[in-house]
Amino acid sequence: MAEPQAVQAGSSRSSDGAQADLGGSGQARGCRTSTSTRNNQFPWDEFDTTYYLRKNYNDLRWDDRQILETVRDFLVNFRPDGQAAGLDLGSGPNLYPALAMLPLCSEITLVERALSNVAWLKQEVTNFAPNWNQFWELLCEQPRYQAVADPRTALAERVTVQAGDVFGLPPRRWQVGTMFFVAESISPRQDEFEAAVRQFVRALTDGAPFAAAFMENSSGYDVGHHRFPAFAVEENHIRSILAPEATDLRISRIGVGREVLRPGYTGMITVCGRVRAG
Ligand SMILES: C[S@@+](CC[C@H](N)C(=O)[O-])C[C@H]1O[C@@H](n2cnc3c(N)ncnc32)[C@H](O)[C@@H]1O
Repeated sequence: MAEPQAVQAGSSRSSDGAQADLGGSGQARGCRTSTSTRNNQFPWDEFDTTYYLRKNYNDLRWDDRQILETVRDFLVNFRPDGQAAGLDLGSGPNLYPALAMLPLCSEITLVERALSNVAWLKQEVTNFAPNWNQFWELLCEQPRYQAVADPRTALAERVTVQAGDVFGLPPRRWQVGTMFFVAESISPRQDEFEAAVRQFVRALTDGAPFAAAFMENSSGYDVGHHRFPAFAVEENHIRSILAPEATDLRISRIGVGREVLRPGYTGMITVCGRVRAG
């Protein structure tokens, strides 16, 4: 994999007083990054929410459209009772995974490490901005989403935002889950990538449907003044981690195509599946 640019790592997350803390680990300052730098040594609390939001989700990109269609058409088959507890892990400034789970869930927890993103999410879920309408309209091509009378009110009523850490998630807590561009985009380390994927799936109950998206062969990414890490992954690696943990795996890949998001990746990978009964 490509070496992420060396940057100064800053403060790591402190606990969020308003919500229960789901875990977390040590603090680190002044470490230079390398392929062995750990997740908790990057300056997540300085994640520039506005920069990332503008760059990625002001408009519905063609690749996000394909991913969202795939995930929608998978999730729509589950939990007709609409009473599941959902998890979106590492939400960042992205509401579309939570919107995709909305008809299945009576409650959705957004677990996020960066306090900047936690603060934004808490505000945004109360009355989401118009840019998310285009994502919701795409979801509404499936009638089940149309049955949600008012997605703004539904999201505000069902979502809880929690400061937390993938490496401290409780096991078998949620009945549907999403994790978009997180496991491969929080550390340059293979062991942390693999642990994050497993922790996500193991936080879900037996048979739970899940959807995850990954940047393929990412070399890291800039958010405002900080560079954040990535571990370069491809489809076969993801499959090898998930195969023992999941059934009904569906993995699809999108190449970079005509409109490249940024330099330093070769595509996006979407995975849908169900947690294997243990
Ligand atoms: C590349 S962003 C993806 C954000 C969003 N899910 C999306 O689809 O655009 C990675 C996210 O993972 C979060 N993150 C980093 N370390 C984490 C950890 N240990 N536990 C949970 N989230 C973490 C970051 O703060 C950031 O919001």
